[in-house]
Amino acid sequence: MQKLEVLGANKLKGQIKISGSKNASLPILAATLLSSKKIYLNNLPKVKDIETMINLIQSLGSKVKFDNEKLIIDNSKQQKKIASYNLMKTMRAGILVLGPLLAKFGSAKVSLPGGCAIGTRPVDIHLKALSKLGVKYKIIEGYVHATAPKGLKGSKIRFPKISVGATENLIIAASLAKGTTILSNCAIEPEIKDLINFLNKAGCKIKWITKRSIKIQGVSKINETNYKIMFDRIEAGTYLVAAAVTEGNLTIKNVVPSIIQTEIDILKKIGAKISIKKGDIHIIGNKKINNINIKTAPYPGFPTDLQAQIMVLLCKANKKSLIKEDIFENRFMHVAELNRMGANISTNGNKAIVEGNINFAAAELMATDLRASVSLILAALTAKGKSVINRIYHLDRGYESLEKKLKKVGAKIRRVN
Ligand code: UD1
Repeated sequence: MQKLEVLGANKLKGQIKISGSKNASLPILAATLLSSKKIYLNNLPKVKDIETMINLIQSLGSKVKFDNEKLIIDNSKQQKKIASYNLMKTMRAGILVLGPLLAKFGSAKVSLPGGCAIGTRPVDIHLKALSKLGVKYKIIEGYVHATAPKGLKGSKIRFPKISVGATENLIIAASLAKGTTILSNCAIEPEIKDLINFLNKAGCKIKWITKRSIKIQGVSKINETNYKIMFDRIEAGTYLVAAAVTEGNLTIKNVVPSIIQTEIDILKKIGAKISIKKGDIHIIGNKKINNINIKTAPYPGFPTDLQAQIMVLLCKANKKSLIKEDIFENRFMHVAELNRMGANISTNGNKAIVEGNINFAAAELMATDLRASVSLILAALTAKGKSVINRIYHLDRGYESLEKKLKKVGAKIRRVN
Protein backbone atom coordinates (compact mmCIF):
# COMPACT_ATOMS: atom_id res chain seq x y z
CA MET A 1 0.00 0.00 0.00
CA GLN A 2 1.36 3.42 -0.90
CA LYS A 3 2.32 6.01 1.73
CA LEU A 4 3.41 9.61 1.69
CA GLU A 5 6.54 10.73 3.47
CA VAL A 6 6.69 14.39 4.46
CA LEU A 7 9.80 16.07 5.76
CA GLY A 8 8.83 19.36 7.47
CA ALA A 9 9.18 22.24 8.02
CA ASN A 10 9.73 24.49 5.00
CA LYS A 11 7.91 27.59 3.93
CA LEU A 12 6.04 26.98 0.68
CA LYS A 13 6.81 29.43 -2.10
CA GLY A 14 5.72 29.66 -5.74
CA GLN A 15 2.65 29.05 -7.88
CA ILE A 16 0.00 26.35 -7.75
CA LYS A 17 -2.49 25.74 -10.56
CA ILE A 18 -5.87 24.56 -9.35
CA SER A 19 -7.48 21.61 -11.15
CA GLY A 20 -11.08 21.17 -12.27
CA SER A 21 -13.65 20.61 -9.55
CA LYS A 22 -14.28 17.02 -8.48
CA ASN A 23 -17.64 17.91 -6.95
CA ALA A 24 -18.78 19.74 -10.09
CA SER A 25 -17.55 16.96 -12.42
CA LEU A 26 -19.42 14.18 -10.61
CA PRO A 27 -23.00 15.45 -11.14
CA ILE A 28 -22.16 16.64 -14.66
CA LEU A 29 -20.85 13.16 -15.56
CA ALA A 30 -24.05 11.66 -14.13
CA ALA A 31 -26.15 14.20 -16.07
CA THR A 32 -24.55 13.10 -19.37
CA LEU A 33 -26.68 9.94 -18.99
CA LEU A 34 -29.69 12.08 -19.98
CA SER A 35 -28.24 12.51 -23.44
CA SER A 36 -28.22 10.36 -26.56
CA LYS A 37 -25.75 12.71 -28.21
CA LYS A 38 -22.04 13.28 -27.74
CA ILE A 39 -20.88 15.37 -24.79
CA TYR A 40 -17.37 16.84 -24.58
CA LEU A 41 -16.04 17.70 -21.12
CA ASN A 42 -12.90 19.70 -20.38
CA ASN A 43 -11.03 20.26 -17.13
CA LEU A 44 -12.02 17.05 -15.36
CA PRO A 45 -9.56 16.44 -12.51
CA LYS A 46 -7.48 13.27 -12.69
CA VAL A 47 -8.61 11.79 -9.39
CA LYS A 48 -9.96 8.42 -8.31
CA ASP A 49 -13.59 9.54 -7.74
CA ILE A 50 -13.79 10.76 -11.32
CA GLU A 51 -12.33 7.47 -12.55
CA THR A 52 -14.98 5.65 -10.48
CA MET A 53 -17.81 7.79 -11.91
CA ILE A 54 -16.51 7.22 -15.45
CA ASN A 55 -16.41 3.45 -14.72
CA LEU A 56 -19.95 3.71 -13.39
CA ILE A 57 -21.37 5.39 -16.50
CA GLN A 58 -19.41 2.94 -18.67
CA SER A 59 -20.98 0.06 -16.74
CA LEU A 60 -24.33 1.61 -17.71
CA GLY A 61 -23.39 1.51 -21.40
CA SER A 62 -21.78 4.93 -22.03
CA LYS A 63 -18.91 4.89 -24.55
CA VAL A 64 -16.13 7.05 -23.21
CA LYS A 65 -12.74 8.12 -24.54
CA PHE A 66 -10.16 10.81 -23.84
CA ASP A 67 -8.96 13.08 -26.65
CA ASN A 68 -5.97 14.74 -24.94
CA GLU A 69 -7.51 16.47 -21.94
CA LYS A 70 -11.07 16.30 -23.25
CA LEU A 71 -13.45 13.50 -22.30
CA ILE A 72 -15.86 12.47 -25.06
CA ILE A 73 -18.97 10.66 -23.88
CA ASP A 74 -21.21 8.94 -26.40
CA ASN A 75 -24.52 7.75 -24.98
CA SER A 76 -26.21 6.86 -28.27
CA LYS A 77 -26.24 3.17 -27.25
CA GLN A 78 -26.46 3.65 -23.48
CA GLN A 79 -29.26 1.44 -22.19
CA LYS A 80 -28.37 -0.32 -18.97
CA LYS A 81 -30.22 0.73 -15.84
CA ILE A 82 -28.50 -1.17 -13.05
CA ALA A 83 -25.76 0.52 -11.00
CA SER A 84 -23.98 -2.20 -9.03
CA TYR A 85 -22.68 -2.06 -5.48
CA ASN A 86 -19.10 -2.61 -6.67
CA LEU A 87 -18.95 0.84 -8.20
CA MET A 88 -21.12 2.58 -5.62
CA LYS A 89 -19.41 1.35 -2.48
CA THR A 90 -16.54 3.84 -2.44
CA MET A 91 -18.38 6.92 -3.64
CA ARG A 92 -21.57 8.45 -2.32
CA ALA A 93 -22.03 10.56 -5.45
CA GLY A 94 -22.89 7.34 -7.32
CA ILE A 95 -26.52 7.95 -6.24
CA LEU A 96 -26.56 10.82 -8.77
CA VAL A 97 -27.11 8.31 -11.59
CA LEU A 98 -30.57 7.50 -10.19
CA GLY A 99 -32.22 10.75 -11.35
CA PRO A 100 -30.98 10.63 -14.97
CA LEU A 101 -31.72 6.88 -15.38
CA LEU A 102 -35.29 7.40 -14.18
CA ALA A 103 -35.70 10.42 -16.43
CA LYS A 104 -34.41 8.54 -19.46
CA PHE A 105 -35.87 5.04 -18.96
CA GLY A 106 -38.61 5.34 -16.35
CA SER A 107 -36.95 2.70 -14.18
CA ALA A 108 -33.61 1.93 -12.53
CA LYS A 109 -31.97 -0.27 -9.93
CA VAL A 110 -29.20 1.54 -8.08
CA SER A 111 -27.16 0.31 -5.11
CA LEU A 112 -27.24 2.45 -1.99
CA PRO A 113 -23.91 4.31 -1.95
CA GLY A 114 -20.82 4.16 0.26
CA GLY A 115 -18.27 6.99 0.48
CA CYS A 116 -16.30 8.68 3.26
CA ALA A 117 -17.07 7.41 6.77
CA ILE A 118 -18.24 10.82 7.97
CA GLY A 119 -21.66 10.03 9.33
CA THR A 120 -24.63 7.96 8.25
CA ARG A 121 -25.24 10.05 5.11
CA PRO A 122 -28.64 8.70 4.04
CA VAL A 123 -30.31 9.35 0.67
CA ASP A 124 -33.87 9.74 2.01
CA ILE A 125 -34.14 13.35 0.77
CA HIS A 126 -33.23 12.27 -2.79
CA LEU A 127 -35.79 9.46 -2.76
CA LYS A 128 -38.68 11.43 -1.23
CA ALA A 129 -38.15 14.27 -3.69
CA LEU A 130 -38.02 11.86 -6.65
CA SER A 131 -41.28 10.30 -5.48
CA LYS A 132 -42.91 13.74 -5.93
CA LEU A 133 -41.95 13.49 -9.63
CA GLY A 134 -43.96 10.23 -9.85
CA VAL A 135 -41.29 7.71 -8.83
CA LYS A 136 -42.23 4.62 -6.81
CA TYR A 137 -39.39 2.90 -5.00
CA LYS A 138 -38.52 0.01 -2.71
CA ILE A 139 -35.24 -0.79 -1.03
CA ILE A 140 -34.40 -4.47 -1.40
CA GLU A 141 -31.08 -5.95 -0.29
CA GLY A 142 -29.20 -2.66 -0.44
CA TYR A 143 -30.58 -1.61 -3.82
CA VAL A 144 -33.10 1.10 -4.65
CA HIS A 145 -35.61 -0.40 -7.11
CA ALA A 146 -37.35 2.60 -8.67
CA THR A 147 -39.94 3.00 -11.39
CA ALA A 148 -41.91 5.87 -12.81
CA PRO A 149 -44.82 4.00 -14.42
CA LYS A 150 -46.18 7.14 -16.12
CA GLY A 151 -42.82 8.82 -16.68
CA LEU A 152 -41.51 11.73 -14.59
CA LYS A 153 -43.96 14.60 -14.12
CA GLY A 154 -42.96 18.10 -13.02
CA SER A 155 -43.95 19.07 -9.49
CA LYS A 156 -43.37 21.56 -6.66
CA ILE A 157 -40.79 20.24 -4.22
CA ARG A 158 -39.46 21.84 -1.08
CA PHE A 159 -36.41 20.09 0.33
CA PRO A 160 -36.80 19.53 4.10
CA LYS A 161 -33.08 20.27 4.54
CA ILE A 162 -30.44 21.75 2.27
CA SER A 163 -28.71 18.90 0.44
CA VAL A 164 -26.18 19.34 -2.35
CA GLY A 165 -26.65 15.85 -3.80
CA ALA A 166 -30.47 15.84 -3.59
CA THR A 167 -30.65 19.25 -5.28
CA GLU A 168 -28.42 17.94 -8.08
CA ASN A 169 -30.31 14.65 -8.53
CA LEU A 170 -33.61 16.50 -8.79
CA ILE A 171 -32.32 19.15 -11.20
CA ILE A 172 -31.03 16.40 -13.48
CA ALA A 173 -34.20 14.29 -13.27
CA ALA A 174 -36.59 17.23 -13.69
CA SER A 175 -34.73 18.40 -16.80
CA LEU A 176 -36.37 15.60 -18.83
CA ALA A 177 -39.64 15.45 -16.85
CA LYS A 178 -42.95 16.48 -18.42
CA GLY A 179 -43.94 20.01 -17.42
CA THR A 180 -42.53 22.39 -14.88
CA THR A 181 -40.74 21.64 -11.63
CA ILE A 182 -40.12 24.18 -8.90
CA LEU A 183 -37.45 23.22 -6.38
CA SER A 184 -37.15 25.27 -3.20
CA ASN A 185 -34.78 25.29 -0.21
CA CYS A 186 -32.11 24.24 -2.71
CA ALA A 187 -28.38 24.06 -2.09
CA ILE A 188 -26.69 26.91 -3.95
CA GLU A 189 -23.12 25.60 -4.01
CA PRO A 190 -21.11 26.85 -7.02
CA GLU A 191 -20.97 23.24 -8.26
CA ILE A 192 -24.78 23.31 -8.57
CA LYS A 193 -24.54 26.48 -10.63
CA ASP A 194 -21.96 24.71 -12.82
CA LEU A 195 -24.35 21.77 -13.31
CA ILE A 196 -27.15 24.16 -14.31
CA ASN A 197 -24.83 26.03 -16.71
CA PHE A 198 -23.87 22.71 -18.30
CA LEU A 199 -27.48 21.54 -18.66
CA ASN A 200 -28.66 24.89 -20.04
CA LYS A 201 -25.81 24.83 -22.58
CA ALA A 202 -27.09 21.39 -23.62
CA GLY A 203 -30.60 22.78 -24.21
CA CYS A 204 -32.29 22.46 -20.80
CA LYS A 205 -34.47 25.23 -19.40
CA ILE A 206 -33.43 25.87 -15.84
CA LYS A 207 -33.45 29.20 -14.06
CA TRP A 208 -33.11 30.61 -10.56
CA ILE A 209 -36.30 32.29 -9.40
CA THR A 210 -35.21 33.22 -5.87
CA LYS A 211 -31.96 32.76 -3.96
CA ARG A 212 -32.80 29.12 -3.12
CA SER A 213 -35.52 28.27 -5.69
CA ILE A 214 -35.12 26.89 -9.17
CA LYS A 215 -37.62 26.57 -12.00
CA ILE A 216 -37.10 23.74 -14.46
CA GLN A 217 -39.11 23.50 -17.64
CA GLY A 218 -38.74 19.89 -18.81
CA VAL A 219 -37.33 19.36 -22.32
CA SER A 220 -37.55 16.26 -24.51
CA LYS A 221 -33.86 15.85 -25.33
CA ILE A 222 -30.34 17.00 -24.50
CA ASN A 223 -28.16 18.39 -27.29
CA GLU A 224 -24.57 17.67 -28.19
CA THR A 225 -22.43 20.02 -26.14
CA ASN A 226 -18.94 21.01 -25.09
CA TYR A 227 -18.37 22.20 -21.52
CA LYS A 228 -15.48 23.28 -19.32
CA ILE A 229 -15.83 22.29 -15.65
CA MET A 230 -15.23 25.01 -13.00
CA PHE A 231 -12.16 25.08 -10.71
CA ASP A 232 -11.96 23.06 -7.50
CA ARG A 233 -12.70 25.53 -4.71
CA ILE A 234 -11.82 23.03 -1.97
CA GLU A 235 -8.44 22.32 -3.54
CA ALA A 236 -7.85 26.08 -3.76
CA GLY A 237 -8.84 26.53 -0.10
CA THR A 238 -6.53 23.69 0.93
CA TYR A 239 -3.48 25.34 -0.70
CA LEU A 240 -4.41 28.72 0.78
CA VAL A 241 -4.33 27.07 4.21
CA ALA A 242 -1.02 25.35 3.28
CA ALA A 243 0.50 28.79 2.61
CA ALA A 244 -0.92 30.27 5.82
CA VAL A 245 0.19 27.40 8.05
CA THR A 246 3.77 27.23 6.68
CA GLU A 247 4.25 31.05 6.67
CA GLY A 248 4.57 30.56 2.93
CA ASN A 249 4.13 32.77 -0.09
CA LEU A 250 1.91 31.26 -2.78
CA THR A 251 0.08 32.37 -5.90
CA ILE A 252 -3.02 30.28 -6.51
CA LYS A 253 -3.94 30.23 -10.21
CA ASN A 254 -6.92 29.07 -12.34
CA VAL A 255 -9.54 30.24 -9.84
CA VAL A 256 -12.43 32.68 -9.57
CA PRO A 257 -11.62 34.40 -6.24
CA SER A 258 -15.15 35.76 -5.67
CA ILE A 259 -16.44 32.17 -5.40
CA ILE A 260 -14.28 31.60 -2.31
CA GLN A 261 -14.76 35.01 -0.69
CA THR A 262 -15.86 33.47 2.64
CA GLU A 263 -12.63 31.46 2.88
CA ILE A 264 -10.51 34.46 1.84
CA ASP A 265 -12.18 36.67 4.47
CA ILE A 266 -11.62 34.09 7.21
CA LEU A 267 -7.96 33.59 6.30
CA LYS A 268 -7.50 37.37 6.36
CA LYS A 269 -9.05 37.51 9.86
CA ILE A 270 -6.70 34.75 10.96
CA GLY A 271 -3.82 36.96 9.83
CA ALA A 272 -2.82 35.89 6.31
CA LYS A 273 -2.05 38.68 3.83
CA ILE A 274 -4.13 38.08 0.72
CA SER A 275 -4.36 40.06 -2.51
CA ILE A 276 -6.05 39.37 -5.82
CA LYS A 277 -4.17 40.17 -9.01
CA LYS A 278 -5.46 39.41 -12.51
CA GLY A 279 -7.75 36.72 -11.09
CA ASP A 280 -4.94 34.97 -9.16
CA ILE A 281 -4.90 34.84 -5.36
CA HIS A 282 -1.63 35.79 -3.70
CA ILE A 283 -1.21 34.75 -0.07
CA ILE A 284 1.54 35.32 2.46
CA GLY A 285 1.27 33.44 5.74
CA ASN A 286 1.81 35.47 8.88
CA LYS A 287 3.87 34.26 11.85
CA LYS A 288 1.14 35.48 14.20
CA ILE A 289 -2.09 33.56 13.69
CA ASN A 290 -5.25 34.94 15.30
CA ASN A 291 -7.81 32.65 16.90
CA ILE A 292 -11.34 32.62 15.49
CA ASN A 293 -14.62 30.73 15.97
CA ILE A 294 -15.95 29.01 12.86
CA LYS A 295 -19.02 26.98 12.04
CA THR A 296 -19.51 25.06 8.84
CA ALA A 297 -22.64 25.81 6.81
CA PRO A 298 -24.09 25.36 3.34
CA TYR A 299 -22.69 27.76 0.71
CA PRO A 300 -21.99 30.67 1.00
CA GLY A 301 -21.02 29.63 4.57
CA PHE A 302 -17.70 28.08 5.50
CA PRO A 303 -17.42 24.67 3.75
CA THR A 304 -17.36 21.46 5.81
CA ASP A 305 -14.85 20.18 3.25
CA LEU A 306 -12.30 22.71 4.60
CA GLN A 307 -13.02 22.16 8.30
CA ALA A 308 -10.16 19.70 8.91
CA GLN A 309 -7.65 21.93 7.09
CA ILE A 310 -8.57 25.13 8.96
CA MET A 311 -8.36 23.20 12.25
CA VAL A 312 -4.65 22.58 11.59
CA LEU A 313 -4.12 26.30 11.08
CA LEU A 314 -6.03 27.14 14.28
CA CYS A 315 -3.77 24.81 16.28
CA LYS A 316 -1.12 27.46 15.64
CA ALA A 317 -3.27 30.43 16.67
CA ASN A 318 -2.37 32.68 19.63
CA LYS A 319 -5.40 31.53 21.66
CA LYS A 320 -8.03 28.80 21.60
CA SER A 321 -10.66 28.61 18.84
CA LEU A 322 -14.01 26.88 18.54
CA ILE A 323 -15.10 24.93 15.47
CA LYS A 324 -18.71 23.84 15.10
CA GLU A 325 -19.45 21.20 12.45
CA ASP A 326 -23.03 21.80 11.36
CA ILE A 327 -23.19 19.62 8.23
CA PHE A 328 -21.98 16.13 9.15
CA GLU A 329 -22.31 14.44 12.53
CA ASN A 330 -19.05 12.50 12.53
CA ARG A 331 -16.50 14.68 10.88
CA PHE A 332 -13.77 14.99 13.52
CA MET A 333 -11.86 11.81 12.73
CA HIS A 334 -8.72 13.83 12.03
CA VAL A 335 -8.72 15.08 15.65
CA ALA A 336 -7.22 11.91 17.16
CA GLU A 337 -4.37 11.88 14.63
CA LEU A 338 -3.70 15.63 15.04
CA ASN A 339 -3.58 15.12 18.83
CA ARG A 340 -1.02 12.34 18.28
CA MET A 341 1.08 15.01 16.56
CA GLY A 342 0.89 17.22 19.65
CA ALA A 343 -2.34 19.16 19.05
CA ASN A 344 -4.65 19.83 21.97
CA ILE A 345 -8.16 19.49 20.54
CA SER A 346 -11.15 18.25 22.50
CA THR A 347 -14.53 17.48 21.00
CA ASN A 348 -18.03 17.42 22.38
CA GLY A 349 -20.65 16.34 19.87
CA ASN A 350 -20.31 18.61 16.87
CA LYS A 351 -18.03 21.11 18.64
CA ALA A 352 -14.25 21.11 18.79
CA ILE A 353 -12.18 23.27 21.10
CA VAL A 354 -8.83 23.87 19.45
CA GLU A 355 -6.07 25.07 21.79
CA GLY A 356 -3.49 27.29 20.10
CA ASN A 357 0.30 27.70 20.18
CA ILE A 358 0.97 24.14 19.03
CA ASN A 359 4.16 22.98 17.36
CA PHE A 360 3.28 19.77 15.57
CA ALA A 361 5.62 16.81 16.01
CA ALA A 362 6.30 14.46 13.09
CA ALA A 363 4.62 11.06 13.40
CA GLU A 364 3.40 7.99 11.54
CA LEU A 365 -0.24 8.64 10.70
CA MET A 366 -3.36 7.02 9.30
CA ALA A 367 -5.60 8.82 6.80
CA THR A 368 -9.31 8.27 7.47
CA ASP A 369 -11.22 10.26 4.86
CA LEU A 370 -10.45 12.59 1.99
CA ARG A 371 -10.26 15.94 3.77
CA ALA A 372 -8.98 14.45 7.04
CA SER A 373 -6.01 13.02 5.09
CA VAL A 374 -5.04 16.34 3.66
CA SER A 375 -5.18 17.96 7.10
CA LEU A 376 -2.54 15.45 8.27
CA ILE A 377 -0.32 16.48 5.34
CA LEU A 378 -0.75 20.15 6.29
CA ALA A 379 0.24 19.42 9.89
CA ALA A 380 3.20 17.30 8.69
CA LEU A 381 4.38 20.18 6.47
CA THR A 382 4.88 22.28 9.61
CA ALA A 383 6.44 19.53 11.79
CA LYS A 384 10.21 19.15 12.03
CA GLY A 385 11.27 15.65 10.99
CA LYS A 386 9.67 12.89 8.93
CA SER A 387 5.97 12.09 9.02
CA VAL A 388 4.55 9.06 7.20
CA ILE A 389 0.92 9.10 6.11
CA ASN A 390 -0.70 5.70 5.49
CA ARG A 391 -3.89 4.84 3.55
CA ILE A 392 -3.43 7.66 1.09
CA TYR A 393 -5.99 6.16 -1.29
CA HIS A 394 -8.38 8.53 0.50
CA LEU A 395 -6.33 11.49 -0.77
CA ASP A 396 -6.17 10.12 -4.29
CA ARG A 397 -9.98 10.21 -4.41
CA GLY A 398 -9.97 13.98 -4.58
CA TYR A 399 -6.61 15.73 -4.94
CA GLU A 400 -4.97 15.76 -8.38
CA SER A 401 -1.14 15.45 -8.27
CA LEU A 402 -1.01 16.60 -4.65
CA GLU A 403 2.61 15.69 -4.03
CA LYS A 404 3.76 17.07 -7.42
CA LYS A 405 2.05 20.39 -6.75
CA LEU A 406 3.46 20.62 -3.23
CA LYS A 407 6.97 19.60 -4.32
CA LYS A 408 6.98 22.35 -6.94
CA VAL A 409 6.53 24.96 -4.19
CA GLY A 410 9.26 23.55 -1.96
CA ALA A 411 7.64 20.82 0.14
CA LYS A 412 9.71 17.73 0.83
CA ILE A 413 7.14 15.08 0.11
CA ARG A 414 7.35 11.75 -1.68
CA ARG A 415 5.18 8.72 -2.37
CA VAL A 416 6.61 5.40 -1.34
CA ASN A 417 5.34 1.85 -1.83
C1 UD1 B 1 -21.69 17.09 -1.05
C2 UD1 B 1 -20.21 17.05 -1.40
C3 UD1 B 1 -19.38 16.89 -0.14
C4 UD1 B 1 -19.73 17.99 0.88
C5 UD1 B 1 -21.24 18.05 1.11
C6 UD1 B 1 -21.67 19.21 1.97
C7 UD1 B 1 -20.14 16.08 -3.61
C8 UD1 B 1 -19.83 14.91 -4.45
N1 UD1 B 1 -19.98 15.93 -2.30
O1 UD1 B 1 -22.01 15.85 -0.45
O2 UD1 B 1 -18.01 16.96 -0.49
O3 UD1 B 1 -19.09 17.71 2.09
O4 UD1 B 1 -21.94 18.17 -0.15
O5 UD1 B 1 -21.24 20.39 1.41
O6 UD1 B 1 -20.50 17.14 -4.09
N2 UD1 B 1 -28.60 14.20 4.09
C9 UD1 B 1 -29.66 13.46 4.54
N3 UD1 B 1 -30.42 12.80 3.60
C10 UD1 B 1 -30.14 12.89 2.25
C11 UD1 B 1 -29.07 13.66 1.82
C12 UD1 B 1 -28.31 14.32 2.77
O7 UD1 B 1 -29.92 13.37 5.73
O8 UD1 B 1 -30.88 12.28 1.46
C13 UD1 B 1 -27.75 14.91 5.09
C14 UD1 B 1 -26.31 14.42 5.09
O9 UD1 B 1 -26.12 13.28 5.90
C15 UD1 B 1 -25.59 15.63 5.63
C16 UD1 B 1 -26.38 16.81 5.04
O10 UD1 B 1 -27.66 16.27 4.71
O11 UD1 B 1 -25.64 15.68 7.01
C17 UD1 B 1 -25.78 17.44 3.81
O12 UD1 B 1 -25.49 16.44 2.85
P1 UD1 B 1 -25.42 16.78 1.30
O13 UD1 B 1 -25.45 18.24 1.10
O14 UD1 B 1 -26.45 15.95 0.62
O15 UD1 B 1 -23.98 16.24 0.93
P2 UD1 B 1 -23.53 15.40 -0.31
O16 UD1 B 1 -24.28 15.80 -1.52
O17 UD1 B 1 -23.49 13.96 0.06
